[in-house]
Amino acid sequence: MDRDYAAHTPVFVGVLKGGFIFLADLVRRMQVSVLSVEFLRLSSYGGNKTSSGFPKIVVGLPDDAVENRHLVVVEDIVDTGLTTAATLRYLREKKPASIKLCVLLDKPERRRVPTLIDYVGFTVPDRFLVGYGLDLDQRYRQLPGIYILNQEPG
Ligand code: IMP
Repeated sequence: MDRDYAAHTPVFVGVLKGGFIFLADLVRRMQVSVLSVEFLRLSSYGGNKTSSGFPKIVVGLPDDAVENRHLVVVEDIVDTGLTTAATLRYLREKKPASIKLCVLLDKPERRRVPTLIDYVGFTVPDRFLVGYGLDLDQRYRQLPGIYILNQEPG
């Protein structure tokens, strides 16, 4: 990624809340001397393990943070792809110079919207994961590693 942004100052757009720990670790490994960091927030699962459908932007970005800028969208996990699709649709309307997508975890089995990921950490199975920023109803986010949440019996 450093090579890709040698000639352009990147703007890292963290998608809250799940992506904040990954973003913090990622920027600390970057070698580029200048980068910007911005944050977007979308409506969440609201305590459920399955997506409620169509996420909405609840905290957006000012136009000048996006227009003609080279964006790297940083997400914790792509599951159905609906959150990513809503994020990219919102950002594209603000006319960035480029957008790339960087995700820590790709869970392709549940995909509903085809999603092209430029930088991916790990491909994961269809299990509910917690820790390292990922939560269930605001729990487990602070765990230092990533864990599979055991399904309740029954
Ligand atoms: P999507 O819209 O279905 O792709 O879901 C994206 C969002 O759902 C992520 O940014 C997470 O906040 C949440 N999510 C999806 N799968 C998991 C998981 O296994 N654990 C915790 N959160 C998840």
